[in-house]
Amino acid sequence: MSQTIDVRQDATTTATPRLLHVEASPRGQRSASLQVAHAFLDAWKARHPSGSIDVLNVWTTELPAFDGDAIDAKYAGLEGRDRSAAQVTAWQEISTLADRFHKADIVLLSVPMWNFGIPYRLKHLIDAISQKDVLFTFDERGLNGMLGGRRAVVVDSRGVGLGPDFPREELDYQQRYMTAWLRMIGITDITHIEVEKTLMGAELDHAARAEACAQAAQLGATL
Ligand SMILES: Cc1cc2nc3c(=O)[nH]c(=O)nc-3n(C[C@H](O)[C@H](O)[C@H](O)COP(=O)(O)O)c2cc1C
Repeated sequence: MSQTIDVRQDATTTATPRLLHVEASPRGQRSASLQVAHAFLDAWKARHPSGSIDVLNVWTTELPAFDGDAIDAKYAGLEGRDRSAAQVTAWQEISTLADRFHKADIVLLSVPMWNFGIPYRLKHLIDAISQKDVLFTFDERGLNGMLGGRRAVVVDSRGVGLGPDFPREELDYQQRYMTAWLRMIGITDITHIEVEKTLMGAELDHAARAEACAQAAQLGATL
């Protein structure tokens, strides 16, 4: 139901740490991933009373379209051409959104599994902000994420349980994708908390949520 959690007892604390919570479930109060994330947040807030929390809900945030001026701005940057005024404006929107990641010390992500992958609005966010010189650089030495030193906690919810019936190596494009993306932008200190079997009856759902909430609270009290 859940993976081993790398709980760091020696985590350093800054006076006013900043946390970014990316909410990718549209299900509000019924959401398992949000419920578990809130267990983390309650414990984290108790530990950091002056810490700040920025909530980025991918369903209620207007995400910049990534076509037209935005895609032209991307290629202008990649090809070393000047950007038009419209492209500059489009790029500014993307940079402003990405700045919310730069400003965070911890990024918490609530991520439901949808069709073995992630909800399309989260993918939209990722495609919009994952840009050279915004979240990563690359040169002849390779790709370098710009968010090194940060920590990520990902709550992965799913209706079934990955295992013999649903082999992780074949069907998981959720957790492994989120890990790959976070590493791409430079975050290597990643903890996943899984809440599984949310669609396999009320009993299993409640048990999974309770177990994952306990793990999240334990982790939140240490970061
Ligand atoms: C469009 C859609 C596709 C889904 N696809 C999967 C899936 O591939 N595998 C799975 O285990 N659960 C799948 N589910 C179930 C959700 O992962 C499950 O309900 C989970 O609890 C959702 O997270 P949330 O409660 O935080 O919204 C899907 C749900 C939706 C709405």
